[in-house]
Amino acid sequence: MNTPCDMLVFGGTGDLALHKLLPALYHLHRDGRLAADMRILAVARNVLSRGDYQALAERRCRAQVARSDFDNATWASFAERLDYLAMDASQSAEFGRLGKFLGAGSCQRGRIYYLATAPDLFESIAENLAIARLAGEHTRIVLEKPIGHSLESAREINAAIGAAFSEAQVFRIDHYLGKETVQNLMALRFANALFEPIWRAGHIDHVQISVNETLGVENRGAYYDHAGAMRDMLQNHLLQLLCLVAMEAPVRFDAEAVRNEKVKILEALKPISGLDVQDKTVRGQYAAGKIGGQEVPAYYFEKQVDNDSDTETFVAIQAEVDNWRWAGVPFYLRTGKRMARKCSEIVIQFKPVPHRLFEASQANRLVIRLQPEERISLQLMGKSPGKGMRLTPMELDLNLARVFPQKRRWDAYERLLLDVIEGDSTLFMRRDEVEAAWAWVDPILEGWLEYYQSPRPYPAGSDGPEQAQSLLELQGRTWQD
Ligand code: BG6
Repeated sequence: MNTPCDMLVFGGTGDLALHKLLPALYHLHRDGRLAADMRILAVARNVLSRGDYQALAERRCRAQVARSDFDNATWASFAERLDYLAMDASQSAEFGRLGKFLGAGSCQRGRIYYLATAPDLFESIAENLAIARLAGEHTRIVLEKPIGHSLESAREINAAIGAAFSEAQVFRIDHYLGKETVQNLMALRFANALFEPIWRAGHIDHVQISVNETLGVENRGAYYDHAGAMRDMLQNHLLQLLCLVAMEAPVRFDAEAVRNEKVKILEALKPISGLDVQDKTVRGQYAAGKIGGQEVPAYYFEKQVDNDSDTETFVAIQAEVDNWRWAGVPFYLRTGKRMARKCSEIVIQFKPVPHRLFEASQANRLVIRLQPEERISLQLMGKSPGKGMRLTPMELDLNLARVFPQKRRWDAYERLLLDVIEGDSTLFMRRDEVEAAWAWVDPILEGWLEYYQSPRPYPAGSDGPEQAQSLLELQGRTWQD
């Protein structure tokens, strides 16, 4: 791609654009990482002037960016990059106007289209860009997850995108891959000889991947009520984390090699279908409760949510990777909204020592925490000071904010937007990955329908439905909380 390039954001007045993309671009601008003449063009249906949009963007960015990072002069120079076009992206006739707005010859400049819209617009936007001759070789397109709502719809979207853009031009974003600790997981596994020999079924009892949020559905009820936790979180973020834990070492750290290894894991996931769906999955939906001392309503009372909705806001699954390295090791996946605490982490639970010399000995556990703080800790057994051999669990604790105190923590979108600008797709999902993830998820969604598996209620501010605890307890294990 030619640099400099421009970025055109469809869905420019939505929460994603205003809460995530613009603050990330503002930071990149402030750090001098954007080409001086890069323009950022927002497109949405709302009738706004350029000035209105700049004012809206400023208001929302001020609320998102840390006070110490925001200053008026930097904002003023950033705002000069911003422009706005009111258009209905679902109407093909509007794309002629978009072409004029972009200007003749603008296709020779690099351009990134960011589709921060509902996924049902992806196909038509791609087609219309191609028809309006706006999808030339110097363009890239970024798609937000979820790509579709099933394997079939994902294939249709991918085919439509593929008709207008080559795979190298397509960036399917999963912002979890832009999180520092997620990338650190790869560094941990593949830059340290220590872990490789024990990173396998012989030494690992099980793996837990939890992404728990205290937030509810906020202003996204209309989208969320059709998606649910499975499509919103598990099909993408949690399966991507699982891939990074389970994959073999790629031969190189580049887009094709890394993604080849991830897709092998998705294809090795043991199918869960029929009656297994009841035994290996738990759906939940939050009821009224308290978060941080504040009363919050039940899910079905949220704005734009059906009053008798049976969408899940929580899901727990016992998955298995059916390959040589992982045979028999359960991967417990769990994600929920309105949980007791915000915490995303991966727990690698090792097996106990083969011969127990000491009472109270506990098996080692490696915890990779993504949020709220970024840390990696290894629980070991040590001796308590004093007489006798009293053992106690101790932690080797690597807190990334403390190791790099002078470095500002980048938001995942900053890293990923810069990768798109530079054309590096290592941390983006390839078409076959997305489809392999849906191929595993679809039978579970079908099983829920077939067996009328309604979501189990759990009080907001709790650890999810009891059945999610039983999923592990029946096997003599517990969630790390
Ligand atoms: C998004 C989901 O992809 O990730 C949201 O659509 C969710 O529902 C969010 O709240 C969580 O992201 P993070 O980075 O806050 O863990």
